[in-house]
Amino acid sequence: MISKLEELRAKAISELDSISDPKSLESWRISYLGRKSPLTQILRGLATLPLEERRAAGAAANELKEFLEKSLAQREEIVKEAEIAKAIEVGRLDVTLPGRPATLGRLHPATQTMRQMCGIFTAMGFEVVEGPEVEWDYYNFEALNIPQDHPARDMWATMWMDYQNEKGERPMLLRTHTSPMQIRVMENRRPPVRVIVPGKVYRYEATDATHESMFYQVEGFAVDKNITMADLKGTLFEFARRLFGKERKARFRCDYFPFVEPGVEMAIDCFVCNGAGCQLCSNSGWIEILGAGMIHPEVLRRVNYDPDIYTGFAFGMGVERMPILKYGIDDIRLFYSNDLRFLRQF
Ligand code: PHE
Repeated sequence: MISKLEELRAKAISELDSISDPKSLESWRISYLGRKSPLTQILRGLATLPLEERRAAGAAANELKEFLEKSLAQREEIVKEAEIAKAIEVGRLDVTLPGRPATLGRLHPATQTMRQMCGIFTAMGFEVVEGPEVEWDYYNFEALNIPQDHPARDMWATMWMDYQNEKGERPMLLRTHTSPMQIRVMENRRPPVRVIVPGKVYRYEATDATHESMFYQVEGFAVDKNITMADLKGTLFEFARRLFGKERKARFRCDYFPFVEPGVEMAIDCFVCNGAGCQLCSNSGWIEILGAGMIHPEVLRRVNYDPDIYTGFAFGMGVERMPILKYGIDDIRLFYSNDLRFLRQF
């Protein structure tokens, strides 16, 4: 039996060494390792041998099988390499062709804009702080001078959490603006503070081309001795010029937010018509970009800042609005519907 196996080994290897094409490799495999090959027959017949002989023959046959399989794999490598070399030689395979480019991810347009905005403010000395998206009524409204049942709450359509406290109230919500971070930051620090807060906010609103239930805002505020409305104006006008271009004009008009006094809205002159009036600015020549004002003394008092010593300004703006204006995007829903045809343009 052993000598028979050795004979088989010698024959198989000498045949294998002369093979140079995949087809012959396959027929070699069938004749030496296939179901009907002598080796397989021997392995199958082992059970009929007397015990002594079975052990030695079994070990030798299995060793041979492993050896032949390994030799086959090595030969396959050699044949494959030779095939490739041949293909290159006859010009069927051009290894100098450029490879397929890997698709690279990129930052979402809202993220890009937010970083750009934060970059402008950090260059002016503001620090970036983030805060929770699930917020207490206290920070989102109460501490911002918007008491329970005050009609100003209607300015923010709110999504309330199911959580109930012992009194049966539902004081937890998804923040409707980034302004609660004014309170959280001031509670924990003494002036001077100069902080901006980028982040997600939520509104209970039916979505359409100009409304989303989730969007981004950037909040900013500064508190110190002697901060005036002129500081607010200078900071925001400079911001508008850096984001929208040097030649932009900016305008303040009175507006109402319960946590500032006086309150303003800021607009820039329309960059499509340069103020002449067009569709983008609904013929007004101006585009509103943010709300702002001097922090209300009541708000300062609540965080133990003495309003007779300290004053401050605050502003808040939507993020998506900036690329919407800049690129003439006509539907805010495009930002969050994961359509790569849209996203790849930025
Ligand atoms: N939080 C306000 C809003 O979302 C914007 C704002 C911020 C206004 C800070 C004044 C000062 O509508």
